[in-house]
Amino acid sequence: MDEWDIAKASNLYKVEEWGLGYFTINDRGNLCVRSTKNGPHKVDLKQLVDELRARKVQPPILIRILDILRDRISELAGCFNQAISDYDYKAPYFPLYPIKVNQQRHVVEAMLEFGKPYGLGLEAGSKAELLAVLALTEDPKNPIICNGYKDAEFVELVAMAHKMGKNIFPVIEKYSELESFIRHYKETGIMPNLGIRIKLATRGSGQWAKTGGENSKFGLHTPEVLQAIRRLKEEDLLHHLKLLHFHIGSQVTQITVIKKALNEAGRMFVEMSKLGAPLEYLDVGGGLGVDYDGSTRDTFSTINYSIQEYANDVVYRIQQLCVENKIACPTLLSESGRYLTAHYSLLITNISSTGRSTPINQQFKLPNNAVSSLTEMVDIISNIKASNYLESYHDAVQYRGELMNLFSLGYLDLEGRAMMEEAYNTIIAKVIEFARQDEHEPVELAGLDRGPSDIYFANFSLFQSLPDAWAINQVFPIIPIHRLKEKPTKKAVVVDLTCDSDGIIREYIGDNEENPYLPLHQVDPEEPYYVGIFMIGAYQETLGELHNLFGDTHAVQIEIQGENQYRISSYIKGDTVNDVLGYVSYSTKDLIHKMRTQIEKAVENGHLTLDESAQMMDQYEQGMYGYTYFED
Ligand SMILES: Cc1ncc(COP(=O)(O)O)c(C=O)c1O
Repeated sequence: MDEWDIAKASNLYKVEEWGLGYFTINDRGNLCVRSTKNGPHKVDLKQLVDELRARKVQPPILIRILDILRDRISELAGCFNQAISDYDYKAPYFPLYPIKVNQQRHVVEAMLEFGKPYGLGLEAGSKAELLAVLALTEDPKNPIICNGYKDAEFVELVAMAHKMGKNIFPVIEKYSELESFIRHYKETGIMPNLGIRIKLATRGSGQWAKTGGENSKFGLHTPEVLQAIRRLKEEDLLHHLKLLHFHIGSQVTQITVIKKALNEAGRMFVEMSKLGAPLEYLDVGGGLGVDYDGSTRDTFSTINYSIQEYANDVVYRIQQLCVENKIACPTLLSESGRYLTAHYSLLITNISSTGRSTPINQQFKLPNNAVSSLTEMVDIISNIKASNYLESYHDAVQYRGELMNLFSLGYLDLEGRAMMEEAYNTIIAKVIEFARQDEHEPVELAGLDRGPSDIYFANFSLFQSLPDAWAINQVFPIIPIHRLKEKPTKKAVVVDLTCDSDGIIREYIGDNEENPYLPLHQVDPEEPYYVGIFMIGAYQETLGELHNLFGDTHAVQIEIQGENQYRISSYIKGDTVNDVLGYVSYSTKDLIHKMRTQIEKAVENGHLTLDESAQMMDQYEQGMYGYTYFED
């Protein structure tokens, strides 16, 4: 048996690659978290979960480490400031946090707090987000960028925020919004500084490529940009046009695409400046990607550049264009949401049970009258070896076909069919084993790797906690948080608790072209087995939904204070059944009343004894105030 150690586990699960030093495996074989990359202190996640359970906080538990946000902001701003200093760029950079990425109050407040040294601002994309942002940005210097479509109320609110002294920039996403601001100005005399979002011909790369380009939903086409400049000139309002914005989509995987977009946007900046637009800010939008996968594969879950390379490219290219054209370098803004938040939260869940997707068996007791194809098939199991596995596979396929025909014609009973299925699956499992060790794996077996696997039922809802895994096949790192000193021997497929056949994780991180299995350990029924789902801080926390009425999980915020020392700075209890039923307009009081009436009837009819009725009622009421996930 080959040796197994922590280094191998780390390599298998790509912990160093996606974990960036925030996550590591300790000597006990447990996964640990740090608040800064390779920082001095780590917290053992298994110990944390044990201690949370001792406090009666049961999985699934969302763990938030706000200090990671601090580290991410400081890295982002640090890289831009480094580039500004290296290239002697003549204007500053301010990071913006687009709150759509995670609107949770603690995240936005942490961003503002940790972002103070770097002048961090906020971006709002809707009326609700704007109302939150306006109240939270108490420092009038904090830039506020308003993207998204704007109605008259939005326009009024922005104008008033400008009047009260806020550093606010509404970004014109479609031409009619410009007319709304002009109209409002004519009525009130208030005109905020304006931004224009341009539609670039350059499209992003990866999953969100289609959100950019000339047919993208947002931004002005070039003729509309010209019309906007003319119109503002005509109204003597051009001096309000201060900002140019673009966004080519989230998680841009290729640096060449970013370079191309920067060049195109920079050229627009120059040309608009030449036409008299007094642009002072360039907002390069979001799109800065993160590596969810840690492999060298070219997928939308990986990126091929570093944050410093990104910052260098932004600063260098814009400077080059401005110097060439003798215009002042703009203040740079970026709206990097995914980059800032992805690592800061993780979900820990337990495997509630396991099963076999395709049952296998090694011991077959053939009936005396077994048909010959079945006998031959079972014989293959004891005779299969490295030298004949392909031939054995062909034979098994043939016998299976024959036996299926016999079943259809009524010559094979259910016992016979069950035995055939088990024997076939057992052969396939062996064929795959031999093929893996074969230097020249036959091409026809390539597709077979989706054969037998172990189903791991995880105590969570994909739709609530990992919506992008369901909606867009986003890959997230999933790893056991303990037992990493042991070699994982199972090829698992993780499924959730919902009764939806889409509640299954179909792709995992890994180096292969496709990674349909997650290596996990054999679960000991006497011991809990925990897996962590990582990098869920961006988009997942607020996109999730109530499918099958699985609600919000418990959420615990920790501050790391020393080696295995932490403070729980906030605990938010997950939804109870009562809560989720309330969201869909049920009244618990009413449901309890209805249930009691029916239970009384069952007592009257003699279906339930008095004791049973009391027990049933107790259970019903307790269930109402319990967690929506499995409890033990
Ligand atoms: C206008 C705008 N800015 C910023 C972002 C955040 O992007 P990301 O999370 O990729 O940084 C988005 C999201 O797609 C967006 O639409």
